[in-house]
Amino acid sequence: MDSFRIQGGKRLAGTIQIEGSKNATLPLMAAALCTDGEITLRNVPCLSDITNMARLLRELGVDIEGDCGTVKMRVVDHNRVHARYDIVKTMRASICTLGPLVARRRRAVISMPGGCAFGSRPIDLHLRGMEALGAKIDLEDGDIIVTAPEGLKGTTIFLGGPSGSTVLGTANIMCAAALAKGRTIIECAACEPEVVDLAVLLNKMGARIQGAGGPRLVIDGVESLGSADHTVIPDRIVAGTYAVAAAITNGDVFLEEFPYDGMLAAIDRFNQIGVHIEMISGQDDPMHAKVRVTSERTLKPTTITTQPHPGFPTDLQAQFMTLLCLANGNSIITEKIYPERFMHVAELSRMGAKISREGPTCVVAGGTPLRGAPVMASDLRASASLVLAGLMAEGVTEVSRIYHLDRGYTKMEEQLNALGASIERVKEATHTPAGELIPVALEA
Ligand code: EPZ
Repeated sequence: MDSFRIQGGKRLAGTIQIEGSKNATLPLMAAALCTDGEITLRNVPCLSDITNMARLLRELGVDIEGDCGTVKMRVVDHNRVHARYDIVKTMRASICTLGPLVARRRRAVISMPGGCAFGSRPIDLHLRGMEALGAKIDLEDGDIIVTAPEGLKGTTIFLGGPSGSTVLGTANIMCAAALAKGRTIIECAACEPEVVDLAVLLNKMGARIQGAGGPRLVIDGVESLGSADHTVIPDRIVAGTYAVAAAITNGDVFLEEFPYDGMLAAIDRFNQIGVHIEMISGQDDPMHAKVRVTSERTLKPTTITTQPHPGFPTDLQAQFMTLLCLANGNSIITEKIYPERFMHVAELSRMGAKISREGPTCVVAGGTPLRGAPVMASDLRASASLVLAGLMAEGVTEVSRIYHLDRGYTKMEEQLNALGASIERVKEATHTPAGELIPVALEA
Protein backbone atom coordinates (compact mmCIF):
# COMPACT_ATOMS: atom_id res chain seq x y z
CA MET A 1 0.00 0.00 0.00
CA ASP A 2 1.49 3.35 -1.07
CA SER A 3 2.14 6.16 1.37
CA PHE A 4 3.04 9.84 1.04
CA ARG A 5 6.10 11.37 2.65
CA ILE A 6 5.46 15.14 2.91
CA GLN A 7 8.03 17.79 3.84
CA GLY A 8 5.89 20.62 5.27
CA GLY A 9 6.30 24.38 5.16
CA LYS A 10 6.40 24.94 1.40
CA ARG A 11 4.35 27.88 0.14
CA LEU A 12 2.31 26.91 -2.94
CA ALA A 13 2.23 29.07 -6.07
CA GLY A 14 1.21 28.38 -9.65
CA THR A 15 -1.82 27.03 -11.52
CA ILE A 16 -3.88 23.81 -11.30
CA GLN A 17 -6.66 22.80 -13.67
CA ILE A 18 -9.53 21.12 -11.78
CA GLU A 19 -10.39 17.63 -13.06
CA GLY A 20 -13.83 16.27 -13.93
CA SER A 21 -16.16 15.41 -11.06
CA LYS A 22 -15.96 11.85 -9.69
CA ASN A 23 -19.43 12.16 -8.14
CA ALA A 24 -20.93 13.37 -11.40
CA THR A 25 -19.12 10.74 -13.52
CA LEU A 26 -20.29 7.66 -11.60
CA PRO A 27 -24.07 8.13 -12.19
CA LEU A 28 -23.37 9.49 -15.69
CA MET A 29 -21.61 6.20 -16.52
CA ALA A 30 -24.48 4.18 -15.03
CA ALA A 31 -26.91 6.05 -17.29
CA ALA A 32 -25.38 4.19 -20.25
CA LEU A 33 -27.44 1.19 -19.02
CA CYS A 34 -30.63 3.10 -19.93
CA THR A 35 -30.06 3.09 -23.69
CA ASP A 36 -29.02 1.00 -26.70
CA GLY A 37 -27.25 4.07 -28.08
CA GLU A 38 -23.66 5.17 -27.63
CA ILE A 39 -22.83 7.43 -24.66
CA THR A 40 -19.66 9.52 -24.94
CA LEU A 41 -18.40 11.17 -21.75
CA ARG A 42 -15.57 13.73 -21.88
CA ASN A 43 -13.40 15.13 -19.05
CA VAL A 44 -13.71 11.85 -17.13
CA PRO A 45 -11.15 11.88 -14.26
CA CYS A 46 -8.50 9.14 -13.99
CA LEU A 47 -9.44 7.57 -10.64
CA SER A 48 -9.72 4.09 -9.16
CA ASP A 49 -13.45 4.61 -8.49
CA ILE A 50 -13.99 5.24 -12.21
CA THR A 51 -12.00 2.10 -13.08
CA ASN A 52 -14.18 0.13 -10.64
CA MET A 53 -17.38 1.51 -12.16
CA ALA A 54 -16.12 0.56 -15.64
CA ARG A 55 -15.39 -2.97 -14.36
CA LEU A 56 -18.92 -3.22 -12.96
CA LEU A 57 -20.53 -1.92 -16.17
CA ARG A 58 -18.54 -4.37 -18.30
CA GLU A 59 -19.94 -7.16 -16.10
CA LEU A 60 -23.38 -5.72 -16.77
CA GLY A 61 -22.92 -6.02 -20.53
CA VAL A 62 -21.57 -2.58 -21.42
CA ASP A 63 -18.75 -2.26 -23.95
CA ILE A 64 -16.43 0.55 -22.76
CA GLU A 65 -13.65 2.25 -24.72
CA GLY A 66 -11.23 4.38 -22.69
CA ASP A 67 -10.45 4.48 -18.94
CA CYS A 68 -10.62 8.25 -18.51
CA GLY A 69 -10.54 11.46 -20.53
CA THR A 70 -12.98 10.53 -23.33
CA VAL A 71 -14.95 7.34 -22.57
CA LYS A 72 -17.35 5.72 -25.03
CA MET A 73 -19.97 3.23 -23.77
CA ARG A 74 -22.58 1.05 -25.48
CA VAL A 75 -24.68 -1.81 -24.12
CA VAL A 76 -23.96 -5.11 -25.92
CA ASP A 77 -25.82 -7.49 -23.58
CA HIS A 78 -29.09 -6.56 -21.83
CA ASN A 79 -29.39 -9.86 -19.98
CA ARG A 80 -26.85 -9.24 -17.21
CA VAL A 81 -28.37 -7.69 -14.10
CA HIS A 82 -26.19 -8.79 -11.16
CA ALA A 83 -23.91 -6.24 -9.46
CA ARG A 84 -21.82 -8.67 -7.43
CA TYR A 85 -20.63 -8.20 -3.85
CA ASP A 86 -16.91 -8.26 -4.63
CA ILE A 87 -17.33 -5.10 -6.75
CA VAL A 88 -20.04 -3.37 -4.69
CA LYS A 89 -17.99 -3.83 -1.50
CA THR A 90 -15.13 -1.81 -3.06
CA MET A 91 -17.38 1.03 -4.12
CA ARG A 92 -20.72 1.86 -2.52
CA ALA A 93 -21.65 4.08 -5.45
CA SER A 94 -22.30 0.88 -7.44
CA ILE A 95 -25.83 1.34 -6.12
CA CYS A 96 -26.39 3.96 -8.83
CA THR A 97 -26.83 1.14 -11.38
CA LEU A 98 -30.09 0.16 -9.66
CA GLY A 99 -32.44 2.68 -11.31
CA PRO A 100 -30.99 2.31 -14.83
CA LEU A 101 -31.08 -1.52 -14.68
CA VAL A 102 -34.72 -1.70 -13.55
CA ALA A 103 -35.76 1.05 -15.99
CA ARG A 104 -34.35 -0.73 -19.04
CA ARG A 105 -34.05 -4.41 -18.04
CA ARG A 106 -36.91 -4.49 -15.49
CA ARG A 107 -34.71 -6.39 -13.03
CA ALA A 108 -31.62 -5.72 -10.89
CA VAL A 109 -29.76 -7.90 -8.41
CA ILE A 110 -27.45 -5.69 -6.37
CA SER A 111 -25.36 -6.74 -3.43
CA MET A 112 -26.46 -4.79 -0.35
CA PRO A 113 -23.78 -2.10 -0.03
CA GLY A 114 -22.12 -2.22 3.37
CA GLY A 115 -21.26 0.77 5.52
CA CYS A 116 -18.03 2.67 5.19
CA ALA A 117 -15.39 4.22 7.44
CA PHE A 118 -17.77 6.92 8.62
CA GLY A 119 -20.87 4.91 9.43
CA SER A 120 -23.76 3.06 7.85
CA ARG A 121 -24.86 4.13 4.39
CA PRO A 122 -28.54 3.11 4.16
CA ILE A 123 -30.40 2.82 0.86
CA ASP A 124 -33.95 2.75 2.22
CA LEU A 125 -34.87 5.90 0.28
CA HIS A 126 -33.65 4.37 -2.99
CA LEU A 127 -35.84 1.33 -2.36
CA ARG A 128 -38.82 3.43 -1.26
CA GLY A 129 -38.61 5.34 -4.54
CA MET A 130 -38.35 2.19 -6.66
CA GLU A 131 -41.31 0.62 -4.82
CA ALA A 132 -43.37 3.79 -5.38
CA LEU A 133 -42.72 3.40 -9.12
CA GLY A 134 -44.16 -0.13 -8.94
CA ALA A 135 -41.06 -2.25 -8.49
CA LYS A 136 -41.04 -5.32 -6.18
CA ILE A 137 -38.17 -5.52 -3.66
CA ASP A 138 -36.80 -8.80 -2.24
CA LEU A 139 -33.71 -9.46 -0.13
CA GLU A 140 -31.88 -12.78 -0.66
CA ASP A 141 -28.41 -13.85 0.51
CA GLY A 142 -27.31 -10.23 0.96
CA ASP A 143 -28.56 -9.23 -2.50
CA ILE A 144 -31.40 -6.78 -3.17
CA ILE A 145 -33.59 -8.10 -5.97
CA VAL A 146 -35.68 -5.39 -7.61
CA THR A 147 -38.12 -6.41 -10.35
CA ALA A 148 -40.76 -4.64 -12.43
CA PRO A 149 -41.97 -7.15 -15.06
CA GLU A 150 -44.79 -4.83 -16.16
CA GLY A 151 -42.45 -1.83 -16.31
CA LEU A 152 -42.55 1.22 -14.02
CA LYS A 153 -45.39 3.71 -13.60
CA GLY A 154 -44.97 7.40 -12.79
CA THR A 155 -46.14 8.73 -9.43
CA THR A 156 -45.32 11.42 -6.84
CA ILE A 157 -42.48 10.45 -4.49
CA PHE A 158 -41.18 12.23 -1.37
CA LEU A 159 -37.51 11.27 -1.28
CA GLY A 160 -36.39 13.06 1.92
CA GLY A 161 -34.85 11.19 4.85
CA PRO A 162 -33.59 12.11 8.33
CA SER A 163 -30.63 14.02 6.81
CA GLY A 164 -32.66 15.59 4.02
CA SER A 165 -32.26 14.60 0.40
CA THR A 166 -30.24 11.73 -1.09
CA VAL A 167 -27.88 12.36 -3.99
CA LEU A 168 -27.58 8.86 -5.48
CA GLY A 169 -31.15 8.10 -4.46
CA THR A 170 -32.31 11.03 -6.59
CA ALA A 171 -30.06 9.84 -9.43
CA ASN A 172 -31.58 6.35 -9.28
CA ILE A 173 -35.19 7.49 -9.22
CA MET A 174 -34.58 10.10 -11.94
CA CYS A 175 -33.18 7.38 -14.27
CA ALA A 176 -36.01 4.99 -13.45
CA ALA A 177 -38.72 7.64 -13.92
CA ALA A 178 -37.23 8.73 -17.25
CA LEU A 179 -38.43 5.41 -18.74
CA ALA A 180 -41.56 4.95 -16.61
CA LYS A 181 -45.09 5.31 -18.01
CA GLY A 182 -46.50 8.76 -17.26
CA ARG A 183 -45.36 11.61 -15.02
CA THR A 184 -43.22 11.32 -11.88
CA ILE A 185 -42.77 14.15 -9.42
CA ILE A 186 -39.86 13.79 -7.00
CA GLU A 187 -40.25 15.99 -3.92
CA CYS A 188 -37.23 16.75 -1.73
CA ALA A 189 -34.90 15.81 -4.58
CA ALA A 190 -31.16 16.40 -4.14
CA CYS A 191 -30.05 19.74 -5.63
CA GLU A 192 -26.34 18.92 -6.01
CA PRO A 193 -24.60 20.05 -9.25
CA GLU A 194 -23.85 16.37 -9.95
CA VAL A 195 -27.61 15.64 -10.04
CA VAL A 196 -28.06 18.54 -12.46
CA ASP A 197 -25.28 17.10 -14.65
CA LEU A 198 -27.09 13.75 -14.80
CA ALA A 199 -30.39 15.44 -15.73
CA VAL A 200 -28.57 17.31 -18.52
CA LEU A 201 -27.20 14.03 -19.91
CA LEU A 202 -30.56 12.24 -19.64
CA ASN A 203 -32.32 15.12 -21.42
CA LYS A 204 -29.65 14.96 -24.16
CA MET A 205 -30.60 11.26 -24.46
CA GLY A 206 -34.25 12.23 -24.97
CA ALA A 207 -35.59 12.26 -21.41
CA ARG A 208 -38.04 14.94 -20.29
CA ILE A 209 -36.80 16.18 -16.90
CA GLN A 210 -37.62 19.63 -15.51
CA GLY A 211 -36.52 21.34 -12.30
CA ALA A 212 -33.02 19.86 -11.87
CA GLY A 213 -31.09 21.81 -9.24
CA GLY A 214 -34.25 22.38 -7.24
CA PRO A 215 -36.09 20.19 -4.70
CA ARG A 216 -38.97 19.32 -7.10
CA LEU A 217 -38.24 17.28 -10.24
CA VAL A 218 -40.96 16.73 -12.86
CA ILE A 219 -40.18 13.79 -15.13
CA ASP A 220 -42.39 12.70 -18.05
CA GLY A 221 -41.47 9.13 -19.01
CA VAL A 222 -40.52 8.32 -22.61
CA GLU A 223 -40.47 5.04 -24.56
CA SER A 224 -36.69 4.89 -24.97
CA LEU A 225 -33.50 6.91 -24.64
CA GLY A 226 -30.83 7.42 -27.30
CA SER A 227 -27.16 8.36 -27.72
CA ALA A 228 -25.51 11.47 -26.28
CA ASP A 229 -22.15 13.20 -26.00
CA HIS A 230 -21.53 14.98 -22.69
CA THR A 231 -18.69 16.75 -20.89
CA VAL A 232 -18.47 16.10 -17.14
CA ILE A 233 -18.60 19.18 -14.88
CA PRO A 234 -15.50 20.04 -12.80
CA ASP A 235 -15.12 18.46 -9.37
CA ARG A 236 -16.16 20.97 -6.70
CA ILE A 237 -14.69 18.87 -3.87
CA VAL A 238 -11.30 18.61 -5.56
CA ALA A 239 -11.53 22.36 -6.23
CA GLY A 240 -12.27 23.09 -2.57
CA THR A 241 -9.46 20.79 -1.47
CA TYR A 242 -6.87 22.59 -3.61
CA ALA A 243 -8.17 25.98 -2.49
CA VAL A 244 -7.51 24.84 1.11
CA ALA A 245 -4.02 23.72 0.05
CA ALA A 246 -3.30 27.22 -1.25
CA ALA A 247 -4.70 28.90 1.86
CA ILE A 248 -3.04 26.57 4.37
CA THR A 249 0.42 27.33 2.94
CA ASN A 250 -0.35 31.07 2.65
CA GLY A 251 0.15 30.54 -1.05
CA ASP A 252 -0.91 32.28 -4.23
CA VAL A 253 -2.58 29.75 -6.54
CA PHE A 254 -4.71 29.99 -9.68
CA LEU A 255 -7.38 27.32 -10.17
CA GLU A 256 -8.80 26.79 -13.68
CA GLU A 257 -12.12 25.00 -14.42
CA PHE A 258 -13.20 26.07 -10.89
CA PRO A 259 -16.97 25.35 -10.49
CA TYR A 260 -17.62 28.63 -8.64
CA ASP A 261 -21.43 28.45 -8.91
CA GLY A 262 -21.48 25.02 -7.25
CA MET A 263 -19.39 26.12 -4.26
CA LEU A 264 -21.06 29.21 -2.85
CA ALA A 265 -21.41 27.80 0.69
CA ALA A 266 -17.72 26.84 0.80
CA ILE A 267 -16.72 30.22 -0.67
CA ASP A 268 -18.80 31.92 2.02
CA ARG A 269 -16.83 30.04 4.72
CA PHE A 270 -13.52 30.80 2.97
CA ASN A 271 -14.41 34.51 3.09
CA GLN A 272 -15.30 34.27 6.79
CA ILE A 273 -11.93 32.63 7.51
CA GLY A 274 -9.95 35.20 5.53
CA VAL A 275 -9.29 33.20 2.36
CA HIS A 276 -9.89 35.15 -0.86
CA ILE A 277 -11.34 33.33 -3.89
CA GLU A 278 -11.02 36.03 -6.55
CA MET A 279 -12.79 35.33 -9.85
CA ILE A 280 -10.34 36.12 -12.65
CA SER A 281 -12.60 34.94 -15.50
CA GLY A 282 -15.79 32.95 -16.05
CA GLN A 283 -18.41 35.50 -15.00
CA ASP A 284 -20.50 34.25 -17.95
CA ASP A 285 -19.75 30.57 -17.29
CA PRO A 286 -19.39 30.30 -13.49
CA MET A 287 -19.14 26.50 -13.47
CA HIS A 288 -15.88 26.84 -15.46
CA ALA A 289 -14.25 29.87 -13.84
CA LYS A 290 -10.63 30.80 -13.24
CA VAL A 291 -9.96 31.96 -9.68
CA ARG A 292 -6.99 33.16 -7.65
CA VAL A 293 -6.66 31.89 -4.07
CA THR A 294 -4.78 33.96 -1.48
CA SER A 295 -5.26 34.34 2.26
CA GLU A 296 -4.82 36.77 5.12
CA ARG A 297 -1.72 36.26 7.28
CA THR A 298 -4.00 35.57 10.26
CA LEU A 299 -6.95 33.27 9.62
CA LYS A 300 -10.17 33.73 11.56
CA PRO A 301 -12.21 30.97 13.26
CA THR A 302 -15.73 30.21 12.02
CA THR A 303 -18.64 27.80 12.44
CA ILE A 304 -19.47 25.13 9.84
CA THR A 305 -22.56 22.92 9.67
CA THR A 306 -22.77 20.43 6.82
CA GLN A 307 -26.04 20.37 4.87
CA PRO A 308 -27.43 19.04 1.59
CA HIS A 309 -26.64 21.36 -1.35
CA PRO A 310 -26.68 24.38 -1.54
CA GLY A 311 -25.52 24.13 2.09
CA PHE A 312 -21.91 23.43 3.12
CA PRO A 313 -20.82 20.06 1.62
CA THR A 314 -19.94 17.23 3.99
CA ASP A 315 -17.19 16.22 1.54
CA LEU A 316 -15.23 19.38 2.43
CA GLN A 317 -15.67 19.12 6.21
CA ALA A 318 -12.40 17.30 6.92
CA GLN A 319 -10.36 19.64 4.70
CA PHE A 320 -11.76 22.75 6.39
CA MET A 321 -11.11 21.23 9.81
CA THR A 322 -7.41 21.05 8.93
CA LEU A 323 -7.43 24.67 7.74
CA LEU A 324 -9.16 25.82 10.94
CA CYS A 325 -6.32 24.36 13.04
CA LEU A 326 -4.44 27.45 11.86
CA ALA A 327 -7.21 29.98 12.67
CA ASN A 328 -6.74 32.46 15.50
CA GLY A 329 -9.42 31.09 17.85
CA ASN A 330 -11.93 28.25 18.33
CA SER A 331 -14.10 26.99 15.45
CA ILE A 332 -17.15 24.75 15.68
CA ILE A 333 -17.89 22.08 13.06
CA THR A 334 -21.18 20.13 13.08
CA GLU A 335 -21.80 17.13 10.79
CA LYS A 336 -25.48 16.86 9.91
CA ILE A 337 -25.04 14.42 7.00
CA TYR A 338 -22.71 11.77 8.47
CA PRO A 339 -22.46 12.36 12.25
CA GLU A 340 -19.60 9.82 12.49
CA ARG A 341 -17.48 11.42 9.75
CA PHE A 342 -14.58 12.33 12.04
CA MET A 343 -11.99 9.59 11.33
CA HIS A 344 -9.48 12.38 10.62
CA VAL A 345 -9.76 13.88 14.14
CA ALA A 346 -7.59 11.28 15.91
CA GLU A 347 -4.96 11.47 13.15
CA LEU A 348 -4.86 15.28 13.19
CA SER A 349 -4.49 15.11 16.98
CA ARG A 350 -1.36 12.98 16.46
CA MET A 351 0.05 16.04 14.67
CA GLY A 352 -0.75 18.31 17.61
CA ALA A 353 -4.22 19.51 16.60
CA LYS A 354 -6.46 20.42 19.56
CA ILE A 355 -9.91 19.10 18.60
CA SER A 356 -12.61 18.02 21.04
CA ARG A 357 -15.64 16.08 19.84
CA GLU A 358 -19.11 15.86 21.33
CA GLY A 359 -21.24 13.59 19.10
CA PRO A 360 -21.75 15.28 15.70
CA THR A 361 -19.90 18.45 16.78
CA CYS A 362 -16.19 19.22 17.01
CA VAL A 363 -14.51 22.26 18.56
CA VAL A 364 -11.22 23.06 16.80
CA ALA A 365 -8.85 25.08 18.98
CA GLY A 366 -6.91 27.09 16.40
CA GLY A 367 -3.53 28.75 16.68
CA THR A 368 -1.64 25.47 17.09
CA PRO A 369 0.85 24.89 14.25
CA LEU A 370 0.93 21.16 13.52
CA ARG A 371 3.99 18.94 13.69
CA GLY A 372 4.78 16.21 11.18
CA ALA A 373 4.03 12.61 12.27
CA PRO A 374 3.13 9.21 10.79
CA VAL A 375 -0.67 9.15 10.25
CA MET A 376 -3.10 6.78 8.54
CA ALA A 377 -5.75 7.55 5.94
CA SER A 378 -9.14 5.92 6.58
CA ASP A 379 -11.47 7.30 3.91
CA LEU A 380 -11.23 9.50 0.85
CA ARG A 381 -11.77 12.96 2.31
CA ALA A 382 -10.06 12.22 5.64
CA SER A 383 -6.94 11.25 3.67
CA ALA A 384 -7.09 14.58 1.82
CA SER A 385 -7.26 16.44 5.14
CA LEU A 386 -4.12 14.62 6.36
CA VAL A 387 -2.18 15.54 3.21
CA LEU A 388 -3.23 19.17 3.71
CA ALA A 389 -2.03 18.97 7.32
CA GLY A 390 1.31 17.61 6.10
CA LEU A 391 1.68 20.60 3.75
CA MET A 392 1.60 23.05 6.65
CA ALA A 393 3.13 20.95 9.44
CA GLU A 394 6.69 21.46 10.69
CA GLY A 395 8.87 18.56 9.59
CA VAL A 396 7.92 15.36 7.75
CA THR A 397 4.47 13.72 7.72
CA GLU A 398 3.96 10.15 6.47
CA VAL A 399 0.40 9.43 5.34
CA SER A 400 -0.16 5.68 4.88
CA ARG A 401 -2.94 3.89 2.92
CA ILE A 402 -2.94 6.50 0.17
CA TYR A 403 -5.14 4.21 -1.93
CA HIS A 404 -8.06 5.99 -0.24
CA LEU A 405 -6.87 9.26 -1.78
CA ASP A 406 -6.40 7.76 -5.26
CA ARG A 407 -10.13 7.01 -5.34
CA GLY A 408 -10.99 10.69 -5.68
CA TYR A 409 -7.89 12.72 -6.62
CA THR A 410 -5.87 12.24 -9.79
CA LYS A 411 -2.16 12.10 -8.90
CA MET A 412 -2.50 14.63 -6.08
CA GLU A 413 1.23 14.54 -5.33
CA GLU A 414 2.11 15.55 -8.91
CA GLN A 415 -0.43 18.38 -8.90
CA LEU A 416 0.81 19.79 -5.58
CA ASN A 417 4.51 19.26 -6.32
CA ALA A 418 4.02 21.35 -9.48
CA LEU A 419 3.00 24.18 -7.13
CA GLY A 420 6.12 23.77 -4.97
CA ALA A 421 5.07 21.09 -2.47
CA SER A 422 7.49 18.30 -1.53
CA ILE A 423 5.58 15.00 -1.57
CA GLU A 424 7.12 11.61 -2.29
CA ARG A 425 4.88 8.64 -3.14
CA VAL A 426 6.55 5.73 -1.39
CA LYS A 427 5.67 2.31 -2.80
CA GLU A 428 5.00 -0.42 -0.29
CA ALA A 429 8.29 -1.71 1.18
CA THR A 430 9.82 -4.73 -0.57
CA HIS A 431 11.42 -7.57 1.45
CA THR A 432 15.05 -8.51 0.74
CA PRO A 433 16.25 -12.08 1.35
CA ALA A 434 17.71 -10.88 4.63
CA GLY A 435 14.19 -9.78 5.57
CA GLU A 436 14.94 -6.09 6.18
CA LEU A 437 12.59 -3.60 4.58
CA ILE A 438 13.76 -1.33 1.73
CA PRO A 439 11.12 1.35 0.98
CA VAL A 440 11.05 2.30 -2.70
CA ALA A 441 10.58 6.08 -3.03
CA LEU A 442 9.27 7.22 -6.40
CA GLU A 443 10.38 10.54 -7.86
CA ALA A 444 8.91 13.45 -5.86
C1 EPZ B 1 -23.11 11.13 -2.33
O1 EPZ B 1 -23.27 9.91 -1.62
C2 EPZ B 1 -21.62 11.29 -2.56
N1 EPZ B 1 -21.09 10.15 -3.31
C3 EPZ B 1 -20.88 11.37 -1.21
O2 EPZ B 1 -19.50 11.65 -1.50
C4 EPZ B 1 -21.45 12.55 -0.43
O3 EPZ B 1 -20.81 12.60 0.84
C5 EPZ B 1 -22.96 12.35 -0.25
O4 EPZ B 1 -23.59 12.23 -1.56
C6 EPZ B 1 -23.62 13.52 0.47
O5 EPZ B 1 -23.39 14.70 -0.25
C7 EPZ B 1 -21.32 10.08 -4.65
O6 EPZ B 1 -21.97 10.93 -5.23
C8 EPZ B 1 -20.71 8.91 -5.37
P1 EPZ B 1 -26.71 10.52 0.20
P2 EPZ B 1 -24.76 9.29 -1.41
O7 EPZ B 1 -27.62 9.43 -0.23
O8 EPZ B 1 -25.63 9.64 -2.53
C9 EPZ B 1 -28.84 9.37 4.25
C10 EPZ B 1 -17.19 11.35 -1.42
O9 EPZ B 1 -16.39 11.57 -0.49
N2 EPZ B 1 -29.55 8.37 3.43
O10 EPZ B 1 -26.91 11.89 -0.35
O11 EPZ B 1 -24.59 7.87 -1.06
C11 EPZ B 1 -27.35 9.07 4.39
O12 EPZ B 1 -27.11 8.20 5.49
C12 EPZ B 1 -18.50 10.67 -1.12
O13 EPZ B 1 -17.00 11.67 -2.62
C13 EPZ B 1 -30.59 7.64 4.00
O14 EPZ B 1 -30.93 7.81 5.16
O15 EPZ B 1 -25.22 10.08 -0.10
C14 EPZ B 1 -26.79 10.43 4.64
O16 EPZ B 1 -26.96 10.78 6.00
C15 EPZ B 1 -18.62 10.23 0.32
N3 EPZ B 1 -31.24 6.73 3.23
C16 EPZ B 1 -27.66 11.36 3.80
O17 EPZ B 1 -28.87 10.63 3.56
C17 EPZ B 1 -30.90 6.51 1.91
O18 EPZ B 1 -31.55 5.67 1.25
C18 EPZ B 1 -27.07 11.76 2.48
O19 EPZ B 1 -26.72 10.57 1.79
C19 EPZ B 1 -29.84 7.26 1.36
C20 EPZ B 1 -29.18 8.19 2.13
